[in-house]
Amino acid sequence: MKSGAKTMKIIAYNSRVDEEEFFVKFSRKYNVEILRCALSPDLENANLAKGCECVSVVTTEINAELIKKFHETGVRFISTRTVGFEHIDLDAAKKTGIQVDNITYSTSSVSEYTVMLILMTLRRAKLITERSNVQDNSLIGIRGKELRNMTVGVIGTGKIGCAVIQNLSGFGCKVIAYNRSQREDLKNFCEYVCLETLYKKSDVITVHIPATQENLHLINHDTIQQMKDGVIIINTSRGSLIDTAALIKGIEEKKIGGIALDVIEGENTFAYRDTKGEPILNREYLVLKSFPNVIITPHTAFYTDQAISDMVENSVRSCVEFIKKKSPSL
Ligand code: COI
Repeated sequence: MKSGAKTMKIIAYNSRVDEEEFFVKFSRKYNVEILRCALSPDLENANLAKGCECVSVVTTEINAELIKKFHETGVRFISTRTVGFEHIDLDAAKKTGIQVDNITYSTSSVSEYTVMLILMTLRRAKLITERSNVQDNSLIGIRGKELRNMTVGVIGTGKIGCAVIQNLSGFGCKVIAYNRSQREDLKNFCEYVCLETLYKKSDVITVHIPATQENLHLINHDTIQQMKDGVIIINTSRGSLIDTAALIKGIEEKKIGGIALDVIEGENTFAYRDTKGEPILNREYLVLKSFPNVIITPHTAFYTDQAISDMVENSVRSCVEFIKKKSPSL
């Protein structure tokens, strides 16, 4: 930045206490001023972005009305500190001329968590800990399975799916994968197959694809019927990929042997909040959660120190790059 030039200002909405040290660190590194706002952006607080061409957001809905409002306050760039960007109305942004960008962060955060959920499900960790908590240390019903004896089906071989496959390579299991396009460098670690084969052959299925209209309820009653009896289903991607009602039926009918979900449809009724003492308005979540062979966590697979640092840094950098491209002399 040339001397005398004004310091660039970014507003970060939904700024959490645990992100603070990183906002401070990266505002210094990139020489920008970052206004931190704990609130989710809405029509009332969009004015706080006045003087900031760039805003950083997370997963709350950024709809056409809010985009228009941001544009009126002078915002020209929205960076989401997330990989997923389905919460942002991209058409509306394009129409108003606001540019939108997402970020990436340490793939180990989600891939290691996925492997952890696979192992927890195979080893019946929920039942073991629940029983242990009430001093029931009996063995009946908690016998596990070894991952090396499993065929794991990975749907989606983007950054996270790829990291999951590489992590699994140390366990000696067979890995099959489905993706529209195939990565040559992964072929030492997995065999690409069609979806039908993946459903038919996998003991464990894990999904790593983005939420789109096209893959809404990719895993549903019909696809579950194509799977092996006792199949284990893992989802650390997006809730909309799986029809929750079909999972409940699959568990009740013992077609499915175990489930671990870090994401579930309607998760905003409980995720990231302390809802003790409140009614949870998501019956399917409550039913599913009650099964001893179902583990549900509140969308925390991403949540590591490295990933949070990456999210903040990459969002700040993305804003800086936008401004630099617009005004190359800065
Ligand atoms: C993403 O980055 O897309 C995630 O799923 C994590 C987010 C909920 C913070």
